[in-house]
Amino acid sequence: SRSINLAVIPGDGIGPEVVTEGLKVLDAALDGTDVKVDTTTYDLGARRWHDTGETLPDSTLVELREHDAIVLGAVGDPGVPSGVLERGLLLRLRFELDHYVNLRPSRLFPGVSSPLSEPGEVDFVVVREGTEGPYVGNGGALRVDTPHEVANEVSVNTAFGVERVVRDAFARAQARPRRKLTYVHKHNVLVHAGHLWRRTVERVAQEYPDVAVDYLHVDAATIFLVTDPARFDVIVTDNLFGDIITDLAAAITGGIGLAASGNVNPDRSAPSMFEPVHGSAPDIAGQGVADPTATAVSVALLLDHLGLPERSERVLEAVGADLGARGSAPRSTSEVGDALAARVTP
Ligand code: NAD
Ligand code: IPM
Ligand code: MN
Repeated sequence: SRSINLAVIPGDGIGPEVVTEGLKVLDAALDGTDVKVDTTTYDLGARRWHDTGETLPDSTLVELREHDAIVLGAVGDPGVPSGVLERGLLLRLRFELDHYVNLRPSRLFPGVSSPLSEPGEVDFVVVREGTEGPYVGNGGALRVDTPHEVANEVSVNTAFGVERVVRDAFARAQARPRRKLTYVHKHNVLVHAGHLWRRTVERVAQEYPDVAVDYLHVDAATIFLVTDPARFDVIVTDNLFGDIITDLAAAITGGIGLAASGNVNPDRSAPSMFEPVHGSAPDIAGQGVADPTATAVSVALLLDHLGLPERSERVLEAVGADLGARGSAPRSTSEVGDALAARVTP
């Protein structure tokens, strides 16, 4: 028998609500196997910060490293200055655990309504760079809160960082039936980073003659995500562009309540972390109405990452079946979680 040593960070707002349901789905997916889940819950987020001033203590980070994987709900709270938890907890985890591939699949499941009238067959994955770009925190401000304020956020792009994520995206494209890679940037304006990305893609492409490569400026990418999303297979892009286009990708494939992500460390030098794309949704927190489906799909990504692809597929099939059968009557967070878990274990 095998045991999965899982760290759980429920976090803020709807985070704990959706994580409870995600863990139900995980348990159901492992039912009938000899795989046990051993979870440790970490109290991090707004309440912890208010109580102790801590966002992510070093000793906790050391403990988290010892796990096989992490499940995170969401962080961020209206009572905490914007950026404190986002940077101090979530981004710190992504950087420290070297989550350089932020995997964000988008699939329009049959029966799910899209705001697009003719979406076509939408099934693509965004490989978002996760450790560089404008997220690094390389910047600063002068003369803050004066008319002469200067505020800089520098986008950091290294040859090492760009190449490793581009290689990952090519490998994924090669393994998918359509074998298509679209890289998204803005090299007509951001000539330093943009041309590093362009040269890297062109060089790595030589090793993948079967993968068709395409480029879009990020502004045009938003057009095609709305007018022709079926054209995409694998998209690779930088940290900030990837953040923006994956919320758009969620919106066209049934909404942010369905969008999953994996913060993956492909080298396995530290645990990967699985979380819904959405945030803590303070506008609906505490009401039991948040959709836990995105967390369930994130659990599917986790199972695949931990070498249980058949169990992962089971979760995706359950999600697909539930989505196809959803009527217009609203269901609570736990009703959806129970329904998904029941479909996973028939
Ligand atoms: P958000 O994703 O929390 O909410 C955007 C909108 O989507 C809201 O109307 C919300 O009610 C809705 N929504 C989100 N998840 C939903 C779900 N599961 N079911 C139904 N509706 C859902 O984004 P925001 O409002 O920009 O940010 C709120 C807070 O969350 C901020 O503090 C932000 O920094 C943080 N945030 C955290 C993460 C994360 O932890 N990964 C991601 C995004 C935002
Ligand atoms: C996401 C979020 C985060 C990001 C924030 C909260 C740091 O928007 O996971 O998409 O920008 O990556
Ligand atoms: Mn985001």
